[in-house]
Amino acid sequence: MMLSIPGVLNAEQLRQCRAALEGGNWQDGRFTAGHQAVNVKANQQLAQDDPLTQQLGDFILACLAQHPRFMAAALPLKVVPPRFNRYAEGGTYGDHIDNAVFSVPGTPHRIRADLSATLFFSEPDEYDGGELVVHDHFGSHRAKLPAGHLLLYPSGSLHRVEPVTRGARLAAFFWVQSLVREEPQRSVLLELDDSIQALREQVPDSPELVRLTGIYHNLLRQWTQT
Ligand code: NI
Repeated sequence: MMLSIPGVLNAEQLRQCRAALEGGNWQDGRFTAGHQAVNVKANQQLAQDDPLTQQLGDFILACLAQHPRFMAAALPLKVVPPRFNRYAEGGTYGDHIDNAVFSVPGTPHRIRADLSATLFFSEPDEYDGGELVVHDHFGSHRAKLPAGHLLLYPSGSLHRVEPVTRGARLAAFFWVQSLVREEPQRSVLLELDDSIQALREQVPDSPELVRLTGIYHNLLRQWTQT
């Protein structure tokens, strides 16, 4: 399942992030590719130990923690500190599957990648190409989201970034270890959560709302792995 999460950053936050990124010290992204990916990756990234990576990454993590839709959809236990990439002049990243486990730089922590996330900083009309294409059992899905939107998709899925043939595509990317490892269970919880939120508007005093909310938490209790 691919999920679009709007409004992770507002216009002013976007403007500040973009100004910082456009002056960033961009490096060849192949330095950070694994064995499988090195032949298909042609983009630019900020170094993980670049102060700008850490500063913007911390800012994005703080925004995500306050975003109810992200929290409901991802049910995050741990998040890999965000990294930043830039695709331009034909830059592309061919079909690959992301690593299963990521180390957090400077710490002994390791994080299992259940969900992959891309946060778009460029508007779709600022560049040609650059769609994120994710393959699943139902086929291939293409996404090119407005700036400030986040795309979530299962880390186990084959995916690619199409060549950018005009302009530049700036994005942050990171991985989430979810409290609920299995995607079908996360989907059920998100559906239930959405239904509860809608009922809260329509019938705020219904005793069934209390029972449904209890069911949500009891399912979460059963399915949570920490
Ligand atoms: Ni990837």
